[in-house]
Amino acid sequence: MAQDRLGTGIATLTLNPALDLQTAVDVVEPENKLRCDAPRQDAGGGGVNVARVIRRLGGRAPCLLPLGGPAGQALQSRLAAEGLEALVVPIAGETRQSFTVLDRSRQAEFRFVLPGPRLSAREVSALEQALERLDPCPGVLVLSGSLPPGFPPARLSRLAARLRRRGVRLALDASGEGLKAGLEAGGWMVKPNRKELGDCLGRELPDRDAHLAAARGLVAAGRAQWVALSLGQDGALLVGNGFAAYSPALPITPVSTVGAGDSFLAGLSWELSRGAAPEAALATAVAAASATLLSPGSGMARRADIRRLRPQVKVEVLEGAGARPR
Ligand SMILES: Nc1ncnc2c1ncn2[C@@H]1O[C@H](COP(=O)(O)OP(=O)(O)OP(=O)(O)O)[C@@H](O)[C@H]1O
Ligand SMILES: [Mg+2]
Repeated sequence: MAQDRLGTGIATLTLNPALDLQTAVDVVEPENKLRCDAPRQDAGGGGVNVARVIRRLGGRAPCLLPLGGPAGQALQSRLAAEGLEALVVPIAGETRQSFTVLDRSRQAEFRFVLPGPRLSAREVSALEQALERLDPCPGVLVLSGSLPPGFPPARLSRLAARLRRRGVRLALDASGEGLKAGLEAGGWMVKPNRKELGDCLGRELPDRDAHLAAARGLVAAGRAQWVALSLGQDGALLVGNGFAAYSPALPITPVSTVGAGDSFLAGLSWELSRGAAPEAALATAVAAASATLLSPGSGMARRADIRRLRPQVKVEVLEGAGARPR
């Protein structure tokens, strides 16, 4: 990733991908056999979801990910079937599966999430090397999703610092120790939700003033250039140096909330990577997230829904109208 080959494109990194199995049943209850519908299989994991939505927005984002075992192979063939580019680092462990069951009687989704395989030190190094070899070198790397068991958060800090030195802008959606590690390294963008940011800062964030103060504090301390704080049905806030904007949520009754955060991050990072104004990027993020709420299971945003919803999104610039992204 030589500096003179700095790209403008996006790539995604998914450290703990999952093969998503989805099905439906009349009612989820104990003891009885639950006769489910034929399952649907999808490639899943934060970075994979982000790449899928970027594609639906009209862009492309190669997915870098560790895969192993039959579930890993199935995941890879699902990616290929969707036309998503995969850069696979083979691992010894078996890629995890996630299981989502729609209970029709309650119209409620039950999501069973397994921990995923432990990566060896050698496998983590292989992932880092694959990142270095990405060609063309991406302008933005989106890292989204959980860390695999045993993955040291310090390694994430190191990775973030290394990317920064090479001029790759890191957009991070992580929680807990992962978010802390990313903020310590001072990346380009973080996208916590309210609870994740509150947990990280060790205080509640009850209202708009608290949200703004927390995001501005991180930017002022050099912890991130952009803080995108997503607030579920209360909308989202985007804060950068000398810039702040708020976008209320669209009035939508979600069919499924799976992947809303990833879709938001996809819209935001894709637009900013293309040099869009931050308020326009925020609007696309909200449109993509809202479109995902209309897709069942882990289906993610449909192109037509994003297009239809985008003009309905309102953005209130609180500070620094006309700011350009860096
Ligand atoms: N119930 C809802 N009604 C309307 N819009 C919503 C709702 N939930 C989420 N959104 C939209 O999706 C965006 C991202 O959602 P949210 O803040 O829930 O992300 P998240 O907590 O990271 O989600 P995820 O569970 O995917 O990690 C919000 O900023 C908002 O625009
Ligand atoms: Mg999230």
